[in-house]
Amino acid sequence: MRISALDLKRQIAPIRQELDMAIKDVIDSTSFILGKAVNTFEENVMKYCRVKYAIGVSNGTDAISLALLALGIKAGDGVICPAFTYYATAGAIASIGARPVFADIDSDTYCISLKSIEKVLKNKKKYKIKAIIPVHLYGQCSDMDGIMKLARKYNLKVVEDTAQAFGAEYKGRKAGTIGNCGSVSFFPGKNLGAFGDAGMILTNNKAAAERARILRNQGNKTKYIHLMLGRNNRMDGMQAAALNVKLRYLDDWNKKRQELAQYYNNNLSLFAVKTPFVAEYSTHIYHQYVLRIARSRDGMMNYLQKKGIDSRVFYPIPLHLQKCFRYLGYKRGDFPESEKAARQTLTLPIDPCLTQKERRYISQSLKEFING
Ligand SMILES: Cc1ncc(COP(=O)(O)O)c(C=O)c1O
Repeated sequence: MRISALDLKRQIAPIRQELDMAIKDVIDSTSFILGKAVNTFEENVMKYCRVKYAIGVSNGTDAISLALLALGIKAGDGVICPAFTYYATAGAIASIGARPVFADIDSDTYCISLKSIEKVLKNKKKYKIKAIIPVHLYGQCSDMDGIMKLARKYNLKVVEDTAQAFGAEYKGRKAGTIGNCGSVSFFPGKNLGAFGDAGMILTNNKAAAERARILRNQGNKTKYIHLMLGRNNRMDGMQAAALNVKLRYLDDWNKKRQELAQYYNNNLSLFAVKTPFVAEYSTHIYHQYVLRIARSRDGMMNYLQKKGIDSRVFYPIPLHLQKCFRYLGYKRGDFPESEKAARQTLTLPIDPCLTQKERRYISQSLKEFING
């Protein structure tokens, strides 16, 4: 049997007609960049997230950079983010000339640790720290009350990296709507994925929304009148068309991911593996289902892969040890929980379209490995 991490063909097949029609509308209208489909998607997201403004942009990385710029973060400023996240979080900071300032993660949730943020903030002046980017890693929200409290105390802006958690809720509020801005990715493999690159900025702040709108579109509000040094970071009509259709199914897909996670949890409860911890303040939409295995992580992954199961490591090298961030001067041992997570975690397929037979096969294969 071969089981991939996510089979988009299976996801698309039952809604193919709706998608074809939505794409046809864009072709017929020739509104390929921004336009009606993007406006509609922005409105749909505002309703879905119960947020005042949603700005469609080119991808989740640009959503982070634009949100920082819209909040007044500039070259030379420091921005705190976790050392254990996808490259793009820190890459987006660096791309505007700001400095990524890493903090460690919480060993249970894999999200940024409040204690570590406080420690890092001892260097607030030295690194001119102006913002924090908590990453809602794997589909679960960071401890937002704690982060907002620190942000108020130290006068920092907050951009929630919601690339992996669109649709999750923190104490009843949608991820990405609590900080000054939220950034979203609709990369095809995300829980809500486009047919190419796409992203979004969420905010309740009118001024930030206005700046983000101008910045995404070459710095202009009116054509050829450039108010700011903007970028070409607009969302495509085709992506918005696909996303408008897929958004209708997101909650159902997320529910199926939660059911599958529960199935794995139940089946693995007697074994020496740590199943995902869900904090009481957040829902978890399982962008990834991540296991922690103190020993033999690689052995388990190799075994699963030999059995045709697409198990992966997100992420094998924490950011402070990546070559591209060497200039920041970090060393091994600086963020022990991030380094441990990179050594000990692996994912199981969490595709909402997995069949009962496939689920059983995965959990059976895991048990075989654990029992030796
Ligand atoms: C945590 C995180 N941040 C940012 C991004 C960047 O999103 P995109 O690939 O749409 O640029 C991703 C997605 O890959 C991500 O997982």
